[in-house]
Amino acid sequence: MVQTKRWNVQTNKMTISEAAALLKDGQTVAFPTETVYGLGADATNETAVSGIFEAKGRPEDNPLIAHVATKKQLTSLVSSLSPIAEKLIDAFTPGPITFVLPSNGTCAENVTAGLSTIGVRLPDHPVANKLLKECGIPIAAPSANVSGKPSPTTADHVWTDLNGKIAGLVDGGPTGVGVESTVIDCTQEIPIILRPGGITKEQLEQVVGKVMLDPALANVSEKPKAPGMKYRHYAPEVPMWLVEGSSEKMQEVINDQRVQQNRVGVMASTLTSHKLEADRIISLGVDIAEIAANLYDALREFKDGEIDLILCETFPETSIGEAVMNRLKKASTDYLKE
Ligand code: TXA
Ligand code: MG
Repeated sequence: MVQTKRWNVQTNKMTISEAAALLKDGQTVAFPTETVYGLGADATNETAVSGIFEAKGRPEDNPLIAHVATKKQLTSLVSSLSPIAEKLIDAFTPGPITFVLPSNGTCAENVTAGLSTIGVRLPDHPVANKLLKECGIPIAAPSANVSGKPSPTTADHVWTDLNGKIAGLVDGGPTGVGVESTVIDCTQEIPIILRPGGITKEQLEQVVGKVMLDPALANVSEKPKAPGMKYRHYAPEVPMWLVEGSSEKMQEVINDQRVQQNRVGVMASTLTSHKLEADRIISLGVDIAEIAANLYDALREFKDGEIDLILCETFPETSIGEAVMNRLKKASTDYLKE
């Protein structure tokens, strides 16, 4: 158990330099990005990076993303950059996207989990950017949650999971996008989305034409190319079912479960949630962007002992809805189709 230092960027001007000093010293510090909070460590220091795996309880075969402050720093970590990769980098950075590129070995081996490629990301968040600039080194950072739990979108989520296990936490308020970055493999001729996220397939195709989806995203039995995608993720404390169809159908399932003495929690859009009756209802928002931003907080709200089963509405898999449904499918234990 270590003493975790917590700073609030709004009230403490020294926060960023103190946090940067800890990172340069080989320690682990959590910080906000525009997607979710990340747990950072010096990506060139193998011992520092192993501190991340230890604090999160993360499987060692799951590679980390190296975060950088500038395009120049990004290119300093890779051995080559195709014209298509360069086009995507110019169009979408800084932003919620991670590029998988051939590694040149600058980062420690446990960052890439022994792969020949590395995931690099230039986030679009003032706190993350200032911190990365002040460090001047690439910072390896997975989401700052205990492995398997929903990713953290507030400093309190990080505190709940990692207090006592990390050196510091920079509280920069709630994150904006709410789901993680899009991971795109740019080592092939046609870019492949390995994880849907903050930048949508439609946006990418507008810039480079054809973009493919890793077949494993459609077919759960296929082995995914992003090693992290094979684990159960984002799991709430109690089982969750996805329920496709009308609010009447959802209400039928709720009633059936309540007859069986199950306390039912519901996650749905504002419109649907107003039509339902259950033991606890969380309205996720009016549109899909708001639903994405509130998703992980809602998953953490349902506590074992208060709720026995969560039912969640399904959403169209277009734009950021693709990322939302990807996370919901991974978080859920069953899918009731129409
Ligand atoms: O938005 C985000 O990406 C957040 C913030 C903190 O930047 N980070 C994040 O990291 O979500 P993490 O570790 O939770 O997820 C990284 C994903 C995993 O699925 C991992 O397997 C994949 O990216 N990944 C990383 N490096 C890779 C590589 N070289 N090849 C294929 N997949 C890779
Ligand atoms: Mg994660």
